[in-house]
Amino acid sequence: MKMLMHASSGGSLLRVTVAVSGLCVPSNLFRRYGFRHYSVSTALPSISTKKNNKYLSQPINAVLDIGGTKITKDDVVKDDPTNNVPDSIFTKLGLQLHNRDKHPIGILKNAIYDYFDKNYTTEFTKFDNLCPIVSLKQNFDDVLVPADHVSRSYNDTYYIDAQTVLRCHTSAHQAELLRMGQTHFLVTGDVYRRDSIDSTHYPVFHQMEGFRVFSPDEWEKSGINSTSYAAEELKKCLEGLARHLFGAVEMRWIDAYFPFTSPSFELEIYFQEKWMEVLGCGVVEQEILKRNGRADNVAWAFGLGLERLAMVLFEIPDIRLFWSNDERFTSQFSKGQLGVKFKQFSKFPPCYKDMSFWINDSFTENNLCEIVRGVAGDLAEEVQLIDNFTNKKGMTSHCYRIVFRSMERSLTDEEINQLQLKVREEVQSKLNVVLR
Ligand code: PHE
Repeated sequence: MKMLMHASSGGSLLRVTVAVSGLCVPSNLFRRYGFRHYSVSTALPSISTKKNNKYLSQPINAVLDIGGTKITKDDVVKDDPTNNVPDSIFTKLGLQLHNRDKHPIGILKNAIYDYFDKNYTTEFTKFDNLCPIVSLKQNFDDVLVPADHVSRSYNDTYYIDAQTVLRCHTSAHQAELLRMGQTHFLVTGDVYRRDSIDSTHYPVFHQMEGFRVFSPDEWEKSGINSTSYAAEELKKCLEGLARHLFGAVEMRWIDAYFPFTSPSFELEIYFQEKWMEVLGCGVVEQEILKRNGRADNVAWAFGLGLERLAMVLFEIPDIRLFWSNDERFTSQFSKGQLGVKFKQFSKFPPCYKDMSFWINDSFTENNLCEIVRGVAGDLAEEVQLIDNFTNKKGMTSHCYRIVFRSMERSLTDEEINQLQLKVREEVQSKLNVVLR
């Protein structure tokens, strides 16, 4: 199957969905390298050794149809050194949580659509079916990410081959949509980042990108310069969105950096006694507009993470729950109902396993987490560095605590011991570290 490097420039890949209604939400991020990271912990239809596994939501040999593009596992997971996509990630492709009206992510998306439909006379075109397989150019070059930027590394991004990645942000679609003549648009989709494991990070999560182009007459009549005009419009828009989602909350703007915007900002809201980062945004770099046929314009863009916002709005305590097919989770949400509070149906006991080893120069925590996810799937709740020292010979030892817990059932000692044994074996053979 030919891969859709130019996925989004072909007509059928860009299916426009007319918004239905709804509420909104972004998610979050942490700013490791100047773009926000919204991810989460484990993946995998873990428990997949059992036959007729009800947790395995999608057969691994499925042919997926994403916006008209057919994708098989062989298109994504390859036995090749330039490919670092595990099966567990492939199983997430095409699940489209953001297109399910009764799922918290879909409910939130619809709520955000609703805000834009109500507040803007020019309709924002909605794209929520663009293929997540994109070229390096789309993901990085088109949005001016420097050649040496850490986000391009194999440690941070899922590569299908040397030129093709699973998009790590919805900004990957900005340039092509501009070239198509779009001036007001929202792009929602699944994004992929190699990451650590804890209750708010998962290697697949959902973002919504917003983009608005202004023409000279719009800022000229305001009497202020184009950049300040776009920045003000942007802030007004997003403060309104935050109020639409969260009610009368306290907010603050933080200066930020993104390669594709200047000035750049992050919006934080005060929620449950903490400042929480909700989104990244800014005035689009003129170079991007120039390259894509909009040299005389100015524009703003934002990107928000839906999981983080949904976790807060629906009080969902663990990001893995979004992927659960357990009816006790799925039945709690209804179309159009933003912010219904999730009722924890049970809290099964965690099981802790510690593991120490001497690391080598190429060791990274993301690689360790990928192994843990590959073995334990969504049973892995957290991987935490609990001890770190360097001896007189210059050897560095790390001790990690792995927390195993199912959100759906009690785990047996035997099962956990087997998982841990497998993790130990793979850590040794794949990461070449020396277990202690
Ligand atoms: N793409 C950025 C990220 O993923 C978010 C962003 C989008 C920031 C648009 C500014 C403008 O972190």
